[in-house]
Amino acid sequence: MKVSVLGAAGGIGQPLSLLLKLQLPAGSELSLYDVAPFTPGVAVDLSHIPTDVKVAGFVGDDLEAAMQGAEIVVIPAGVPRKPGMTRDDLFNMNAGIVKKLVGAGARACPNACFAIVTNPVNSTVPIAAETLKAAGVHDRRKVFGVTTLDVIRANTFVAEIAGKSTADVDVNVIGGHSGVTILPLLSSVPGVRLEQADIEKLTPRIQEAGTEVVEAKAGAGSATLSMAQAATRFTLSLVSALGGKSVTECCYVQTGDDPTSYFAQPVVLGKNGVESIPELPALSDYEQKLLGELRGVLDGNISKGIEFANAEE
Ligand SMILES: NC(=O)c1ccc[n+]([C@@H]2O[C@H](COP(=O)([O-])OP(=O)(O)OC[C@H]3O[C@@H](n4cnc5c(N)ncnc54)[C@H](O)[C@@H]3O)[C@@H](O)[C@H]2O)c1
Repeated sequence: MKVSVLGAAGGIGQPLSLLLKLQLPAGSELSLYDVAPFTPGVAVDLSHIPTDVKVAGFVGDDLEAAMQGAEIVVIPAGVPRKPGMTRDDLFNMNAGIVKKLVGAGARACPNACFAIVTNPVNSTVPIAAETLKAAGVHDRRKVFGVTTLDVIRANTFVAEIAGKSTADVDVNVIGGHSGVTILPLLSSVPGVRLEQADIEKLTPRIQEAGTEVVEAKAGAGSATLSMAQAATRFTLSLVSALGGKSVTECCYVQTGDDPTSYFAQPVVLGKNGVESIPELPALSDYEQKLLGELRGVLDGNISKGIEFANAEE
């Protein structure tokens, strides 16, 4: 299995690359690309860790070389938030980066799975898909927005409040990946019964957990270490799935034939990417209300991405 990480020298990219070097199956290849000139050095550094995963570093014009033959491309390249910014404020900086990187991927590894971390995910995933369509290589089963951080945060916070081990908590988080579009399904966590008052306290905390980190880092960026863990979990699930084992993960994908139907929800992954999308569990009245409210925001984010991707350069 060859995994390319684009943006590999960044706050997320470096710990993500470390975790993948430690956890990818023996015999895998890890290919690191970033515009930062020291990226080959990050690869040399990692290559001294004794695991059976080969690491190579690329920079500058070697973008396509970095992705040649990759089965999975993980993209955390781009600018993170500073205090006071929403994820949507990053659109102008990051939309073009995602379009460029996925465009190169369409040439170098047209059959790869693309896992987009770069914010605003609600818009950058449609940008990635439209870019692949323009190149004639789009397969909607293989384009993902990584929303796993919302899931691991929800698991952590619910485990704390329910007095359980995090290993025994599995929260589904649906919708999108910003503010009100993040909808944790706290009324149907297997084995956990939360009071409605707790649900109404935890829901906004999970929605704004990213902002909690941005503010605590006071201008030095957004979540990097927890995000690296989240992207590692998602990448390893994709590796297992492509290897033939069905795995379920919440992620942001095109859920139907309608090219604007992006939504995060539990998705069964298999050897061709998205294998099936199971029915959602029954939503409580509170969750139904939040679902109704998030649709308009999400639709706006999706249209913005599609329009950007298809605009004349
Ligand atoms: N999906 C999520 O849950 C989630 C969570 C946290 C952060 N993010 C997003 O991830 C992105 C990266 O965050 P970070 O904290 O690692 O930022 P960072 O600034 O620390 O790192 C970004 C890296 O991208 C590189 N880069 C910029 N343009 C590039 C290009 N054209 N090609 C290749 N590399 C390029 C930079 O050189 C840098 O090394 C941001 O957009 C952030 O908002 C997403």
